[in-house]
Amino acid sequence: MRRLGLGHRIGQPAEGTGGPNHPPPKPDLVSGCRLRHSDAVSDPLPDPGAPSPEKPKRRPRYAGKHPRRFEEKYKEHNPERYAGDIAKVLASGKTPAGMHRPIMVTEILEVLAPRPGETAVDCTLGYGGHSREILPRLAPGGRLIGLDVDPIEHPKTTARLRAAGFGEEVFTAVRSNFAGLPKVLADLGLGGADAILADLGVSSMQLDDPARGFTFKTDSPLDLRLNPSRPPSAEDWLARVSTDALAEALVANADEPHAALLARELTRRRSATPFTRTVQLADAIRAILSEHTPRPDAEAANDTVRRVFQALRIAVNDEFGVLDLFLRHLPHCLNPGGRVAILTFHSGEDRRVKQAFRDGVRSGLYARTNEEVVRAGPAERRANPRSSSAKLRWAIRAV
Ligand SMILES: C[S@@+](CC[C@H](N)C(=O)[O-])C[C@H]1O[C@@H](n2cnc3c(N)ncnc32)[C@H](O)[C@@H]1O
Repeated sequence: MRRLGLGHRIGQPAEGTGGPNHPPPKPDLVSGCRLRHSDAVSDPLPDPGAPSPEKPKRRPRYAGKHPRRFEEKYKEHNPERYAGDIAKVLASGKTPAGMHRPIMVTEILEVLAPRPGETAVDCTLGYGGHSREILPRLAPGGRLIGLDVDPIEHPKTTARLRAAGFGEEVFTAVRSNFAGLPKVLADLGLGGADAILADLGVSSMQLDDPARGFTFKTDSPLDLRLNPSRPPSAEDWLARVSTDALAEALVANADEPHAALLARELTRRRSATPFTRTVQLADAIRAILSEHTPRPDAEAANDTVRRVFQALRIAVNDEFGVLDLFLRHLPHCLNPGGRVAILTFHSGEDRRVKQAFRDGVRSGLYARTNEEVVRAGPAERRANPRSSSAKLRWAIRAV
């Protein structure tokens, strides 16, 4: 049994379930998709990836016995039809292609304690894993607003939730950056929410899809945007950033120990060949380490590549800028006694959330927050390695 510090006990840990370089956020940047009126609609976009009912899609051809490439994994992309195969992938500790496993569901439900008739906001809808658990607990009479900046995955998740029986009256889909939460609530005529969740960062669908440019395991355009229609892409950002600003971003966004070396060498090399592809950038980082550091080690080099990609992703999506703004708005978006839970995945995020919640308790905006961070239990970490770095913090709005 573990304690969340809320005075309740949780039964078992959840099984198989989740700087300075940033300019101050501009009003339209902050709202991400600019919160145009047309964005704040239920079910805003048709799903371009959905198979047409008249023309069933052909199974992709692939070499060998099992599909290896993301887009070839047709069974994993079709979990309703191939439930047995999905169960096997999940049991092996992997996340099926095109899916995301929600993290620390039990702990989040205990913290948010959604009740019938309440209003909840999932600020990072993703695959909808947390929302699917919260929604039934709000019935009868309650409602969940599901936000996400991603124009590709958000409509797919909306369609899945509708197909699962969550109609307009209980689930409102809004494509928006969570930094625009006050406007989203105002547009919906809501004064505040009783429960707010933010599960920060990227989903497995985004990370694993080579077309999104988040992964360096396959050769893809160097993009890394949560909303690919909003500039800059990582390619454009890396083409223009100064050596000093790049070094700063590598430290602030990823605690990269080789920040100065990488910033100097990457900005030198880009004048000969601009970085446009994920594998090209990953290879350049490995080459820099092997030329300039003693005893380069392949695993350590891959860790450096991962950190550089994380730093670029945070920079192009202005992740710290929008998180700071969201944390400032948050207490004013909660009803008295309302609960907020935030899952973070690295120290830059966790520091901000911890500080904002503590400052809120000191100023009387929040009644309580957790002193000790809550982590996924060992069973969940084993079943879903992506949960290992997750940290949960919560706060309760003063009455
Ligand atoms: C870790 S996933 C959430 C997964 C989700 N909890 C689930 O169970 O499927 C994070 C999601 O948040 C979205 N996101 C990240 N930053 C955002 C922001 N500032 N505003 C709105 N959505 C954001 C991403 O596009 C991604 O879909």
